[in-house]
Amino acid sequence: MNIDWSSLPFGYFKTDYNVRCYFRNGEWGELEISSSEHINVHMAATALHYGQEAFEGMKVFRGIDGKARILRWEENAKRIRRSAEGIMMEPVPTEKFKEAIFKVIHLNKKYIPPYGTGAALYLRPLLIGSGPQVGVKPADEYLFVVFVAPVGPYFYKNGFKPVKIQLVRDYDRTAPHGTGHIKVGGNYAASLIAANRAVVEGYSSVLFIDSKENKYIDEAGPANFFGIKGNTYVTPDSETILPSIINMSLRQLAEDMGMKVERRPVLIEELEEFEEAGACGTAAVITPIGVIHDRETGKTYKFGEEGKAGPVSEKLYKKLTAIQHGEEPDPYGWTTVIEGV
Ligand code: PLP
Ligand code: COI
Repeated sequence: MNIDWSSLPFGYFKTDYNVRCYFRNGEWGELEISSSEHINVHMAATALHYGQEAFEGMKVFRGIDGKARILRWEENAKRIRRSAEGIMMEPVPTEKFKEAIFKVIHLNKKYIPPYGTGAALYLRPLLIGSGPQVGVKPADEYLFVVFVAPVGPYFYKNGFKPVKIQLVRDYDRTAPHGTGHIKVGGNYAASLIAANRAVVEGYSSVLFIDSKENKYIDEAGPANFFGIKGNTYVTPDSETILPSIINMSLRQLAEDMGMKVERRPVLIEELEEFEEAGACGTAAVITPIGVIHDRETGKTYKFGEEGKAGPVSEKLYKKLTAIQHGEEPDPYGWTTVIEGV
């Protein structure tokens, strides 16, 4: 195995094993270990026709003490439950979720990137409606799979540097009373045109605004948005945003640093008032935003010194990653050490 850990992209990587579990005849079966990269799915599976699919994302980091840690996995277990319920799928019991993620980490322990490389072992749990339906109805059978891939950060390849983001008004990823608050595949399908266009036009990601009034910031593609104004950490509150576990953690860390935290609707014009801006999430970690360009109005918002992350974003980034790598105390018990890997 010859992996250049420090330059891993965020992408698929073949590893040795994945784990699977089927819900059939009204009950979850035993966890199965597989070394196949494929799943055998009925052609009428509801996941394929009606988007009955939800997923999660978590990272395992090798710490300074050689131990592997995962952050707040119980929150991901809760969120995939909410996602399942939101599109009438059978939720994965927390015990099953736990068994699956720890098993898949053990089986693929050689793919946990070494300490100091910036890389992580990414866990991708997914739950799909696998049973057949032709009418628009929930499936009777479900398949839960967890696979892993060693990855680098999503948005930046050359270190912790600000990226350019494109604000769009002509595409929405979700709708009020829709599915934006849960992590289901349809939201990502709906984001593809805008996200891909942003990349083609030279941006790292897209910034979606609220789809009802077109006045407020929603989120930054596959990550939440935050802004720093003086001593305040501001992040949008909206029913169409996915509640990010990293954002929730950053709000706590910001408060612990003596900052004020505001979670509320954020008007697009308020971008003018932020000294720093960032995107945050498991894949995105904290990605400082240097520029937001409004594709329709042509207006450009700039944050901080060119090419340099702002001091608050950097402090938050260091604090969070230090906890994830066991370099600093974990006062809230967010991390779980994975024994025996
Ligand atoms: N927003 C969206 C749309 C996402 O896909 C993700 C990634 O999971 C996030 C935000 C960040 O969430 P978390 O911090 O829980 O990874
Ligand atoms: C994550 O941050 O884990 C995500 O799921 C984002 C992903 C859509 C790339």
